[in-house]
Order: sequence, then structure tokens, then C-alpha cells
Amino acid sequence: MKRVDDFRLKLGKDELVPIMIGGMGVDISTAALALEAARLGGVGHISDAMVHDVSDRRFDTSFIKDKTRLYKYNIDNSDKTDIKFNLEHLAEATRLHVGKTMEAKQGSGMIFVNCMEKLTMNGPRETLKVRLESSLDAGIDGITLSAGLHLGSFALMESHPRFRDAKLGIIVSSVRALQLFLRKNAKLNRLPDYVVVEGPLAGGHLGFGLDWAQYDLQTIITEIVQYLEKEQLAIPIIAAGGIFTGSDAVSFLENGSSGVQVATRFTVTEECGLPAKVKQEYFKASEDDIIVNTISPTGYPMRMLSNTPAIGDGIRPGCESYGYLLDGNGNCAYITSYNREVAAHPDAKKISVMDKTCLCTHMRNFNCWTCGQTTYRLKDTTRKLADGSYQLLTAEHVFRDYQFSVDHQIALPD
Ligand SMILES: Cc1cc2nc3c(=O)[nH]c(=O)nc-3n(C[C@H](O)[C@H](O)[C@H](O)COP(=O)(O)O)c2cc1C
Repeated sequence: MKRVDDFRLKLGKDELVPIMIGGMGVDISTAALALEAARLGGVGHISDAMVHDVSDRRFDTSFIKDKTRLYKYNIDNSDKTDIKFNLEHLAEATRLHVGKTMEAKQGSGMIFVNCMEKLTMNGPRETLKVRLESSLDAGIDGITLSAGLHLGSFALMESHPRFRDAKLGIIVSSVRALQLFLRKNAKLNRLPDYVVVEGPLAGGHLGFGLDWAQYDLQTIITEIVQYLEKEQLAIPIIAAGGIFTGSDAVSFLENGSSGVQVATRFTVTEECGLPAKVKQEYFKASEDDIIVNTISPTGYPMRMLSNTPAIGDGIRPGCESYGYLLDGNGNCAYITSYNREVAAHPDAKKISVMDKTCLCTHMRNFNCWTCGQTTYRLKDTTRKLADGSYQLLTAEHVFRDYQFSVDHQIALPD
């Protein structure tokens, strides 16, 4: 019976344990978590989402305070056109977050940054270029392009000296998305080094509609593998979404994938950035508590726990401090919904907004409990303590369980 450790992920000349820990935005996949994956020979991800805030917390910088002060005059204005990101600050925050993480790296594995296109930051092209290039400047091993088609992202990095040596990959959820990306980038003469195929059971935003349950990860992977074979393209495929045991992973490794990307099982590790109380919510969840809804202003469906505090909350839009989802013309779907509710309830002290959420503020405060579909199984991966809470795991324990377990077994912690 095979185990994950019988396989290796080859990225160019490098050979890795074929386990990637996926990027989990706004510092849920912390540097500490990514560093463990690299130390153990796999691939870890940090995320560059809301990187100013992450830098402020990690390095005591004051990017958010300074931005809030600069735009304070606009807080009661529903027009957010003026709220722009200072590109030098963006580069500085990214270089700090990425650079300090890379300095601490040990072991034979790698650390990539998860870069979501949907973070349009009221200037999609220029901010994305700075994000990509400053991660490369700071020595990141690779970049995983996510949450968007990224048709222009390779071109934005083309003139960077590391464009051809850093590992660059993209997350897709269909053969069509991959075809579009490859066609669009054909003239750059640079293929992605890997393609993460994310199925409908993943956490975070989904590349599917509300009919996500009709799709199946292995079916999509098989279509993609056939397409790549037809085009004679040798690009490693990384399977993602709902891979809960080492045996689940082996099944993908035996059927066209060169690696797996996993996240949910690491949300209850000590190294994960979620607050301890939120980790207990993930442990406690039952299958019925896991929902997919459309409250994210990005337009993508998102999976989360049904008791997520962000649902229905009517907080004032926090764009003067954050503004990561402003589309380039000062718009965000939450602002529209918020203004509608304010107009409908002019005398209310507190309003509720059901159809959208202020994702920046709530992700920043760990109040949007996005999760994978298998979250309800997390309680089976640990022990219940005398006080009724669940024991946290170490990232090393979970990583090694994926790497070495057989027969769908899950090792409990000591
Ligand atoms: C809490 C959480 C947050 C996530 N945030 C992001 C994100 O910011 N960007 C992204 O590309 N994927 C995100 N994902 C998706 C993961 O990187 C990964 O591909 C997927 O969840 C793997 O499936 P699994 O959770 O069933 O193991 C997130 C997943 C979780 C569980």
C-alpha cells in the first residue's frame, strides 16, 4: 500500500515532498506555518492579502494607522474613489513580510506566496505589479496566482530578473480557465511551473457557482491532464480541495497529480493564525454548519461556518484603512449594499447587511470563518481535553500524518 512519501513533486530540478499547504488569506497561513512545511521538505504558502496589516502586526510598522489618518476626512463619504494605495508602502510591506519569512527558512522545502487577483486595491494593474515584483525582490521561492484568471499577471512580471527562475503557478478550477491562461501567455514563452487544480470542496473563495456540488475534483483533473497531453505540455498538476487523509492524497498522486495542496487540516494547528477560540469553532462544526454563500464582495461564492460573525453584520465600510476590494473606480459591492440599508433605515443606530459583507474588516479581525467542506471531520483528528475543548495539533504532526499514513488512518496527537 502506497503512502505520500513514496512520491516526489518535481519542480524543475527540485524534488519535494508532494504536499503544499495552501495560502490562507490574511495571515491564517502564517509564516510559522509555511516555515514548517518548508522545513519538512514540502511547500508552504504565506499570503500577501492585506499585507500592510500583517506587517503592522509582525513588525510593528504603522501602515494602516498612517493610511487611516491620511483618508480620515473621507470616512463618512460613500464615494471611495480617492482611497489609493501608496505603491512604495505596498512594496515595503510586501518585502518585509516575504523577506523576513525567507530569512527564517530552513530545510529543503520551499515557500511560495499566494497572490489573489481579486484584491484589486483601487488600482488593479499597478498594485498587482508591485505585489508580484516585490515578492520576487524579497526572495520568495515562488508565487501561486489565485482568485482570478490572471490573464495579464505573467506580463506584469516579465521584466523582473527572477521571472524565469522563480516558481510560478496558477490555481484553476476548470480546463477552460487553464486554456485561457495558457493562450493569453503563449507569446511570453514561459509556462507555469505547476497548476493547482482546486475542486469544489476547498476553503476560501470557490471557482464554481452555487452548483459547486455537481463538480468533482478528479474529473476536472483528468480533463486537464488529457488537454495537457494533447498539447504536449508537461506541467505538474497539484490537486486541491477535500483531501483529508494521506490515502486521499495517494489516490490523486496515482491518477494524474504530482502533488496535493491541503489547508483545512492545518486550520487547527498551533502555527495557524486563527485565534484559539476560532480554532475551537472549527473543531466543533458539524456538517450542517458548513455553508457556501455569496456574501463576499468579490463575486465568488465562499465557504464558511454558518455561525460566522461576519454574516449579517452592518459595519461601516473600512476602506479608508483597508480598501483591498475597491475595484479601481472606488466601488465595492459591500458599499452598495451598506448604503442601501442605511437609506432604508435612516434612524437605525445599527443596521444589518445580509447580502454582502465587509470582507476586509472581517477577515482582518478573524470574523469571517471561511473553511473547507471537510472541516466537520477535524474533531476526529485530535483528542477532547478534560475541559471539553479540543487539543490543538502541531503543523509537523499533521504534515507527517499526510506524508506517512496509510489506509485512511489519521494519527491522533500524543
Ligand atoms: C481558512 C482558509 C482560508 C483560505 N484562504 C485562501 C486564500 O486566501 N487564497 C487562496 O487561494 N485559497 C485560500 N484557501 C484555499 C486553500 O489554499 C486550499 O487550496 C484549499 O482549501 C484546499 O482544500 P482543503 O482545505 O480541503 O484541504 C483557503 C482555505 C481555508 C481553509
